[in-house]
Amino acid sequence: MRLAHVTDLHFGSEEAAVVAGLRADLIEQNPDRVLVGGDLTMRARDDQFRAARELLDSAGRPWTCVPGNHDLPLDRLARATRPLDAYERLVDAEAQPTVHDGGLRVLGLSTPRPYLWKGGLIDAGQAELIGSALAGAADLKVLLLHHPVFHSPQRPHETLVHGAGRALQAAAEAGVDVVLCGHDHVAAQIDLATVWPGLNRRMIGLMSGTACSRRVRAGESQSYTLLDLAGDRLSIIVRRWRDDAFHSSDVTVWHRSPGGWGP
Ligand SMILES: [Fe+2]
Ligand SMILES: [Fe+2]
Repeated sequence: MRLAHVTDLHFGSEEAAVVAGLRADLIEQNPDRVLVGGDLTMRARDDQFRAARELLDSAGRPWTCVPGNHDLPLDRLARATRPLDAYERLVDAEAQPTVHDGGLRVLGLSTPRPYLWKGGLIDAGQAELIGSALAGAADLKVLLLHHPVFHSPQRPHETLVHGAGRALQAAAEAGVDVVLCGHDHVAAQIDLATVWPGLNRRMIGLMSGTACSRRVRAGESQSYTLLDLAGDRLSIIVRRWRDDAFHSSDVTVWHRSPGGWGP
């Protein structure tokens, strides 16, 4: 099973050559599914959503998406009263999608909130949803959201999503394998049990960089991530933009044991 994690596309601030390169690379890498972590747009404008949607559709693979904070409108009244209107109209009517596809189970959570622009929120109802949607057996269980549940080494002072603790507790109890996030525009991964004491399962926290926008952090380039599952071995391959194409840079192999995942 091969998955691609693509996030923070930020159409409206996209780099055209990188968009074309991302489409070509997704076609070539041929993942079974593309998991999209939000911030599809800069300003939640219709034309920006359409451009993001066009990229996802043209890669020719099934995709599953959640919204990011930039996918809520800037206009205060619209943001407060109809925050996901354009997203649900132009991307997916279901902002919290579930996937049961062969051995794969995915739950996407919508974490942006009109009044929590920076950190976002996983509320009690969403934590319960993790338990119900991700229960049962699967080869790989993935929780997909926009806001981070761990600090990357590159940006150790960023705000984490509110409610991360209860969400990860529910995820651990449901047997989640990987939690995918974006928002920080850097590539990072971690054993979540090392930073969230009390979890009874070792889950992989994985953050991908901005896939195709100009909003790259110092020292980073555009990137996305491939996850290759073979039995109890998961290879995480960061594909970075360099010299007009995406190339594999860091490859990390994780191994599954009864308690979860370790190097
Ligand atoms: Fe972003
Ligand atoms: Fe964001």
